[in-house]
Amino acid sequence: MHSFDKDPDHIAVDKVLTYARERLLMDPIPLDGPQSEDYLLSAAGQTITAAGLGSTRAMELFEHTLAPACLSTDHPRYLSFIPCAPTREAAAFDVVVGASSIYGGSWMEGAGAVYAENQALRWISDLAGLPEEAGGVFVPGGTVGNLSALVTARHTARAKALAEGTGARPFRIAATDNAHSSVTSMAAVMDAEVCGVVVDDMLRMTGPELRRTLEEHGPETFFAVVATSGTTNFGVVDDLDGVAEVCEEFGIWLHVDGAYGGAGLAAPSVRHLYEGIERADSFIVDPHKWLFAPFDCCALIYRDPSLARAAHTQEAGYLDVITKTSEWNPTDYSIGLTRRARGLPLWYSLAVHGTDAYVEAIEDTLAVTRHAAAEIEQRPYLEAVREPDLSVIVFRRLGWSPDDYQAWTDRLLDQEFAFVVPTTFRGETLTRFAVVNPHTTKEDVTAILDTMA
Ligand SMILES: Cc1ncc(COP(=O)(O)O)c(C=O)c1O
Repeated sequence: MHSFDKDPDHIAVDKVLTYARERLLMDPIPLDGPQSEDYLLSAAGQTITAAGLGSTRAMELFEHTLAPACLSTDHPRYLSFIPCAPTREAAAFDVVVGASSIYGGSWMEGAGAVYAENQALRWISDLAGLPEEAGGVFVPGGTVGNLSALVTARHTARAKALAEGTGARPFRIAATDNAHSSVTSMAAVMDAEVCGVVVDDMLRMTGPELRRTLEEHGPETFFAVVATSGTTNFGVVDDLDGVAEVCEEFGIWLHVDGAYGGAGLAAPSVRHLYEGIERADSFIVDPHKWLFAPFDCCALIYRDPSLARAAHTQEAGYLDVITKTSEWNPTDYSIGLTRRARGLPLWYSLAVHGTDAYVEAIEDTLAVTRHAAAEIEQRPYLEAVREPDLSVIVFRRLGWSPDDYQAWTDRLLDQEFAFVVPTTFRGETLTRFAVVNPHTTKEDVTAILDTMA
């Protein structure tokens, strides 16, 4: 199978690269959409066989049956969840990463890749105003980023309690109800308990409410506070400065989840919302969300990376040659050992375009969101639930039931016109635009809102 004799003309490779090239340069992109398993079974049948289908048939199946059954998250009118709209350079470079057999876990094996990834991390870290020593690693997503940071936080808190002989064994995390579901989910993985902090009328975590939660349960039982810089449902940025103040007072680790909204740090028009982020102990942002990188990529950054190294380094005789050096081994800063150099697509695109182009692209998406807010304001049948801070806007269609929202979503998807799903907030069904794709135009959002009349 690995012998070149089997396909001396490299037809299988060419087919793949030709398809990738066409998809990367495709304009316009089809929205496509899901199909039932019955349909796929009848259209694609059994694709894994003892003898193999050969490259022509396998590629045909992918191109004409499987790929059209997957939504294009980079379609300009895909505004659900958090879209993924990589630059062409970033998406194309992902092909290079896959083709190059780079091991991204250690300096010894992947120095060039690690060097480049670290420069991309540096840019993000500088946007947040973290100190020069800050650093981290690209992990698969926000969930793994949050888990890795929280494991470091707990390890640090318990080591401190042990050193001070307090006998404390912190097991709690403070977060609001608006924190991402991955926080509760990862707390369960860690057998930790999440204590809710009440939000203010702007839906933010604030210092006084955080203090109340900590004092109610005993500050010594907490190992981390998770603040969010851009909640998923609404794009709310917590009062990071107020929260940091309380964390510092009680000596509790502050983790800031900016998986979606962290990219806004680059945008001058909203930068003031993040005041205090420079006081965080750890911070994440997903470049596959609003920094135009392909799935799957989360930048995880620590104020003091040596604490993460102490928590995550895997010890084994066969790894001594790596772990007993002072070199920067990305694998030491998160859960997991083997790693793809998944920060390289972001690095390549940043290197090609420069950071100013990123600032401009993020500001463009904010301008489109503000246009959507103004359009909603003007229409008597629509009402915004909250003014957008970032690039997410949640609104209601007056008079619609949950079934009406779903029927509207289904109709737009059937027509391959747009993908906008309902959301819920405090028991009410609503809908929501998440604008992170610079190809989404003001005309796109206006056209979608017209369909709700
Ligand atoms: C604020 C926030 N945190 C964490 C996550 C989880 O990230 P991922 O889906 O990359 O695991 C998300 C995903 O949307 C998010 O918006």
